[in-house]
Amino acid sequence: MTAQDFTLKSYHTNIEKGSVKWASPSNIALVKYWGKKKDQIPENPSISFTLSNCKTITEISYSKKEGKGFSFDIYFEGEKNEAFKPKVQTFFERIEIYMPFLKDYHFKIETSNTFPHSSGIASSASGMSAIALCLMSIEQELSINKMEVEESKAYFNQKASFLARLGSGSACRSIEGELVVWGENKSVAESSDLYGVKFEGEVHSNFNNYQDTILLVDKGEKQVSSTVGHQLMFGHPFAKERFVQAHDNLAKLKTILASGDLNEFVKIVESEALTLHAMMMTSMPYFILMKPNTLEIINKIWTFRERTDSKVCFTLDAGANVHVLYPESEKETILEFIKNELVSYCQNGHFICDQIGLGANQI
Ligand code: PMV
Repeated sequence: MTAQDFTLKSYHTNIEKGSVKWASPSNIALVKYWGKKKDQIPENPSISFTLSNCKTITEISYSKKEGKGFSFDIYFEGEKNEAFKPKVQTFFERIEIYMPFLKDYHFKIETSNTFPHSSGIASSASGMSAIALCLMSIEQELSINKMEVEESKAYFNQKASFLARLGSGSACRSIEGELVVWGENKSVAESSDLYGVKFEGEVHSNFNNYQDTILLVDKGEKQVSSTVGHQLMFGHPFAKERFVQAHDNLAKLKTILASGDLNEFVKIVESEALTLHAMMMTSMPYFILMKPNTLEIINKIWTFRERTDSKVCFTLDAGANVHVLYPESEKETILEFIKNELVSYCQNGHFICDQIGLGANQI
């Protein structure tokens, strides 16, 4: 597939209005994407667990309009929201060539998250993928050349992921589950820089319903946005090696997913999280997104692992919160451990229990 293949060629102009609704989840990367080229093309491949409970629910109502330009309103949790408009405007500008009907309609975008607002959980992956999926449902309504069901489902997911990528890179990994790979690499034959693909390799039952408890260490605004962080990989002294390492780690993880070797899984996942933050600390300007409590939690997890034969581990995204990952078989023990030893490091004692999920669904 090339980007041109995603251009809608012909569509009906006689549909006056309609509405569509999707719920789309967040995702957590195991091998991290950090650094991008033009048009949100990643510098290295990544793989993520799709989450189940942390979702954005978005309804888009569309009605035919006259006149040039984009026209849309956004409501976040029932209230009109102006703050999100520039991001959606940029998104529409980027995707217009693939969806020529965007200027023919007014869009009312109503959106809400299942996780608390300002929890420090990035909602860009779930939020952008939910909008992309709604726009795809509208495209399907307007489309003249209806495809066969199976063919159209594959195309639908691929284009939704392609569009979501143009909204926010990692959002392209939120369409399907349970594991999604984004970025061309030798280990996953069908992988692409343009969209995420469901990981179709063998996955050991150790990873069934894998748990992710998100410890909310800092709910504030990040000091440095991911956009700026990605840019700082240009001219970064370790960038080249880092991109090679991500390819290697993805290949290793593929083998680990098949064998179910959780000791090796822990090594790759924690090393990836720390490498992501090491890239931030060694860029110019340098910055630190972890907080003292992030490190307290990491140390507690390491001590707990030494004390027990637990396979619990942590990962981080571009912030201070800690994702605690563990197999379903350890659910009770780890929740006890979290309540007894980690909750005191969370802001207002807040954490969110989630697990690996199957992807977005239409409502
Ligand atoms: O999708 P963005 O541009 O917000 O970048 C997010 C990158 C990380 O969350 C840090 C890593 C990843 O692969 O999700």
